Amino acid sequence: MRLYYFKNAEDLAKAISARLGIDARQIEERDFPDGEVLVRVEPAREVALIARLYPDVNKNLVKLYLALDALTDYGAERIVLVAPYLPYARQDRRFREGEPISSKTVLSHLKLYPVTHVVTVDLHKAYISDYVGGIRFINIYPSSQFAEVLRRWNVSHVLSPDAGSLGRAEALAKALGASYDYFEKFRDRETGEIYMRPREGTSLQGKAVAIVDDILATGGTLVDACKNARMLGASAVYAAVTHCMLLGNAREKIKGCISALYCTNTIPCEYSSVDIARPLAEALASIL
Ligand code: R5P
Repeated sequence: MRLYYFKNAEDLAKAISARLGIDARQIEERDFPDGEVLVRVEPAREVALIARLYPDVNKNLVKLYLALDALTDYGAERIVLVAPYLPYARQDRRFREGEPISSKTVLSHLKLYPVTHVVTVDLHKAYISDYVGGIRFINIYPSSQFAEVLRRWNVSHVLSPDAGSLGRAEALAKALGASYDYFEKFRDRETGEIYMRPREGTSLQGKAVAIVDDILATGGTLVDACKNARMLGASAVYAAVTHCMLLGNAREKIKGCISALYCTNTIPCEYSSVDIARPLAEALASIL
C-alpha cells in the first residue's frame, strides 16, 4: 500500500506514515492563474490518499477527483480515501424545494473509482455514507481525546447545541463520567437566523459544563449555547469542537463567553490541541 498526500495534509501524512512505517509521498499539484488546477500522481496498485479538503473546498475537491481519476487510469485497484473533514456534509438533505443534496452530489462520484473505504472524522450526519453504498466509512469521533484535555476542568455536564449533536454529547459525557443533554435549536431556512433555548427544567447552577459540536464556522451556534449555559448558572463553559473554521469575527465572539476551546487538527488553527493523526493511523491500520 502506498501513502499519498496533498501538500496541505503533510503534517498528518508524516505522522501517519511514522506510525504505520509506510513511506508517504506528496502528490504534485499546480494552480493555474485562471483558477484551474492540475495534479500528477505516481502509479500504484493500492493507495491510501490523504486529502485535507478545507479551506478552498471547491478547488481541493477538484484536485481530489483529478488525482482519483489519474490513479485509476494508471491501474489503481484499491484506494482508501483519508479525508478528515468532508465538505458539503451539512447539506445532507433538501431543506428547500429545488435544492440538491450536496453531500450526495460530492460523495457519489467516489463510486466511479476503486475507492473501498473513506476514513473521516466526525461526519456532520453519519447517514450521508449511505449515499455511496458499497464504500465503507470509518467515521472517527475523538471523544477520548477530548475527554483527556477536558478532564482537568472537572466538567460535570456536557451539552450539544441541538438534538442532532446529542450523540457527540453522549460520547464525551461517557468518557468524562458526566451527564449530558441538548439545547433546542431552530433555524429559519429563508434567513438562516438561529434561535436556541434550553429544554424545560434545565439547571446548570454552579456546574462546569462542556459544549460539543462538529463544526465551528461563524461561532454563532457555539456562542448562543454558551450564553444559554451561563444564563442557566454554569460557572464555566468549555467547548470541544471537531472542525474549527473560525470565520469572520468568531474569535472575538468566543473570547467573550467560552472559558477554553479545544479543537482537532482536521482544520489546523490556534485551538487545535487534539491531534487526530493517531486515530486516523489506527483506522488505516485496521483496514490495510
Ligand atoms: C450545524 O448543524 C452544525 O452542527 C454547526 O452547529 C454549525 O455549522 C456551526 O455554525 P456556526 O458556527 O456558523 O454557528
